[in-house]
Amino acid sequence: MSTKKLWGGRFSEEADPWVNEFGASIAFDQLMTKEDILGSLAHVKMLKKTGILNNEDADKIIKGLEEISDEYDAGTLVFDVENEDIHMNIESILTKKIGPVAGKLHTGRSRNDQVATDFHLYLKNRLPIIIEELYNLQKTLIKLAEENVETIMPGYTHLQHAQPISYGHYLMAYYSMFKRDIDRFEFNMKHTDISPLGAAALAGTTFPIDREFSAKELGFNEVYSNSLDAVSDRDFALEFLSNASILMMHLSRFCEEISMWVSFEFQYIELSDQFTTGSSIMPQKKNPDMAELIRGKSGRVYGNLLGLLSTMKSLPLAYNKDLQEDKEGVFDTVKTIIPSLKVFNGMISSIKINKDKMYAATENDYSNATELADYLSSKGIPFREAHAIVGKLVLECIQRNINLQDLSITEFKNISNLIEDDIYEILKPEIAVQRRNSLGGTSFEQIKKQIQQAKKDIQ
Ligand code: ARG
Repeated sequence: MSTKKLWGGRFSEEADPWVNEFGASIAFDQLMTKEDILGSLAHVKMLKKTGILNNEDADKIIKGLEEISDEYDAGTLVFDVENEDIHMNIESILTKKIGPVAGKLHTGRSRNDQVATDFHLYLKNRLPIIIEELYNLQKTLIKLAEENVETIMPGYTHLQHAQPISYGHYLMAYYSMFKRDIDRFEFNMKHTDISPLGAAALAGTTFPIDREFSAKELGFNEVYSNSLDAVSDRDFALEFLSNASILMMHLSRFCEEISMWVSFEFQYIELSDQFTTGSSIMPQKKNPDMAELIRGKSGRVYGNLLGLLSTMKSLPLAYNKDLQEDKEGVFDTVKTIIPSLKVFNGMISSIKINKDKMYAATENDYSNATELADYLSSKGIPFREAHAIVGKLVLECIQRNINLQDLSITEFKNISNLIEDDIYEILKPEIAVQRRNSLGGTSFEQIKKQIQQAKKDIQ
């Protein structure tokens, strides 16, 4: 006696439906329907080409699979949890369609290389979409930076006013982060663009298959060179989750600054109504919900990374059912980062920058203290000594409730005879910014160079 399952030959007892349901992945792996059909088509074409299947059988299978693909597109394909996963659902649909010849499709193949192939294909098809969204975001940042080369704002360390910088410089810092994100996803493609198909269960197959042929059919760049590795490897998924986590961390840091900077205390920027929400009780509120939500969503992406790392840890080679847990976190991450990038891009494209508020924040904050210290040291006073002199002076100004630039030239000269009238120019925030002309610094010239290079890079 055997059970109804495709693999039911050696079984005599049916599992309870709730056990079947627990083991099934069809609820989520149907997201890889297209990939599964494409994988099967490549496999059967290879079986035909190598003569493992005769033309007639192979053609029947190909036609059946193509019809299933059309039905999927038309939304008429119905899956059954009894058939556990997408692979066995498609096979069972094919069997209903073309009869027992469908059973020849699985010659020289296992679900282990099949699922790995589907998963590689799934990610291979999504990575370019993510990279495209990142490019769109970079374009927005470059445009905003170009408009704000001369927008002066406080630069922070420890969230304390540190030195004045250009808002354009700040934006280009994020541009650089997203550039590294693109590099990482592009590298991720290298490990995703490999075909596991033909590794079979774990050890390869006795059939004279042609793995390179099916890999080429699927557009894979290369084939796994070790069949055990091919079915056990999920590094490409882990790399993806790790890259996505770093990307979300970048978005989240930016969103944190947006949330602070729209607050009453800062008022550096305003978000458009489209990307904010009101309060159900406080009529005056305009909340940066989208920024907060993106910041919040970084948590689930990190969780997905840790989830899969933990699943993989201690897994003996080769396939184990634990590996079925690899997919949902990756699907969820794709579903999280693409809209996060889109919303974020829309949000910053429509941002209003309150240049006056930003500038005003640099005027009364002693963030020009380094200018005075640099000035003194450029006149020959050792920097440490200059630092101490200016520190004392700042304390005095705080006590007198004035700024450094409010001191008279006589008061300056009392500290050091080396100070001349030009000190007032030097202490201006915009001059402080312009003078930081070292490579990669915040001077207008350096930012323009960064922008120029960035434009070349994303062409
Ligand atoms: N649904 C399974 C998964 O997602 C497919 C592979 C099953 N292979 C097996 N030998 N049980 O991982």
